[in-house]
Amino acid sequence: MIGPEMRLNALNRTPSEENARGGVIVTVGNGDARMQPMNLGVQIRICLALAGLAVATVGANSAEAQGRAPLVDPRSVAPYVPTPWHVVDRMLDLVQVTEHDMVYDLGSGDGRILVRAAKAHGARGVGLEINHDLVVDARLAIGAANVEDRVKIVEQDIFEADLSPASVVTLFLMTSANRRLKPKLLEELRPGTRIACYKWEIPGWNPVKSATVEVSGAGQPIYMYEVGAHQ
Ligand SMILES: C[S@@+](CC[C@H](N)C(=O)[O-])C[C@H]1O[C@@H](n2cnc3c(N)ncnc32)[C@H](O)[C@@H]1O
Repeated sequence: MIGPEMRLNALNRTPSEENARGGVIVTVGNGDARMQPMNLGVQIRICLALAGLAVATVGANSAEAQGRAPLVDPRSVAPYVPTPWHVVDRMLDLVQVTEHDMVYDLGSGDGRILVRAAKAHGARGVGLEINHDLVVDARLAIGAANVEDRVKIVEQDIFEADLSPASVVTLFLMTSANRRLKPKLLEELRPGTRIACYKWEIPGWNPVKSATVEVSGAGQPIYMYEVGAHQ
């Protein structure tokens, strides 16, 4: 697919670049530059560029006018993919969640990890999530499961939140996000806080335990880290 940047790049090319690509300006025998009719490919690229620019402009203006958030939240460090239920159970078992725990799910999606931690293990929980629709879904799920007294969802960027009350942290983000989180985890979490990661490791840290779960016919890792015992 041709993205808007490629379309705009087509607009930004210099005449000599365009010429090199079989474009519009040619040099004749006496060294003069002369305009030639554009070939069909160039015409199509320019039409696409103009159409792309128009769509981008209209889209941006209408999103702004309606006060809507941009399509991709620039704060996002991972797309929404729910953890399969059997993996949720494995993660909570691996870190041995109990009713004494305060579980923080960083990027809590539809709230399933916290609902399960509260329902099956009696834990309390806080979910941090930037996607408003998912925050609404998670709050509905918490209400439906009758665990409002133990679980809450905060619509907030994980990098802005105070993680210090957590005794367990669950992560299904990407390795790059986990790498960025490392200093915050070390600064705010108490020694002994358990961290369960599905699929993506915390680079440079040694897990104290790990397990493999089968998801869609393939083995996927779960890692458990412990603050203070990760090196
Ligand atoms: C892979 S999903 C995991 C959802 C849920 N934890 C689960 O396991 O089912 C990652 C979630 O992180 C959220 N997210 C991404 N960047 C975030 C940020 N900077 N602050 C808060 N949430 C974020 C996404 O909106 C998405 O819901």
